Amino acid sequence: MIDDVALLEAWRDSLALSALKAGEQVVILNGWDRPARYKAVATLAARQLGAVVSYVELADPDHLPASVLPLLRAADLVIDLVFVHDPQLHAVRAADGTRVLLVLEPPEILLRLRPSEADKRRARDAEARLRRARIVRVSSAAGTDFSFAIGDYPVSSQYGYADEPGHWDQWPGTFVYTFANDDAGDGRVVIDRGDILFPFNQYAAEPITLEIANGWINSIAGGFHADMMRSHMASYGSRDVYALSHLGWGLSPNARWDVLGQYPSGALEGQDGRAFAGNFLFSTGPNDIGGGTRTTPCHIDAPMRACTVELDGTPVVELGTLVAGPALAAE
Ligand SMILES: [Fe+2]
Repeated sequence: MIDDVALLEAWRDSLALSALKAGEQVVILNGWDRPARYKAVATLAARQLGAVVSYVELADPDHLPASVLPLLRAADLVIDLVFVHDPQLHAVRAADGTRVLLVLEPPEILLRLRPSEADKRRARDAEARLRRARIVRVSSAAGTDFSFAIGDYPVSSQYGYADEPGHWDQWPGTFVYTFANDDAGDGRVVIDRGDILFPFNQYAAEPITLEIANGWINSIAGGFHADMMRSHMASYGSRDVYALSHLGWGLSPNARWDVLGQYPSGALEGQDGRAFAGNFLFSTGPNDIGGGTRTTPCHIDAPMRACTVELDGTPVVELGTLVAGPALAAE
């Protein structure tokens, strides 16, 4: 049972961290065919902060109608409850400075992972480390030994709130990532038993071994989940599905690796899995959100436990534990 007052407080704190101020315009986006789970609480929280709230039900979150765009341009903060994938939203952010906060996860996860300024400090610190690096090496006792060159694509992070003009973020979740340079990435990635496979929303039942050369996955070997991954990727009929997507590590101290098994498939968006502190988040497919040319919709996120991540030889994660940046214990 979720305490409605606690949820309202959490929303108000989250919107305050998103720099929402009296008189600002908020637009809440939801799908017409889904329950408006957070419409009321988001509206109350925004109004408590003195903001002016409008609400739009979208027929198709992948295609924003032209009639909605002026509303988004006029907004200071968009609260996205449906996950809009239309690039026009990002064009509005860039041109007009509209901030966007995506919120999808169940209320108890929002409460457990209330964002904080410490999350942003940790994210910014990790960004700076990653921006200075040129070679990332990932290794594990399970057999991962994988290196990739970086520097040609931007470094980004999420920290759970949208406080700066044009910033997009998601509550909850703190992690950092970039993209391998074109044709970079060599070695072996072993997604171990218990690592997570999105969008399947499953834990790998057996190790999956990926052989990677020049930034391309050449083979996928293992048991049932390797078969599923191969079959799923082949169904898109595109070479780009075998490329690398965002690569980085998780920074959320309260995110939990183990929650996936407690929910029916589809009930979670998966931010716990992507953000739990010290995971190496491997992913496949598109790199267009980093400015690259690959746009394939086939995208697998695989948060991996017990990896060591080194930046130019200096570890930031050792055996799945953060070893660089602001100490988690200090919070
Ligand atoms: Fe992803």
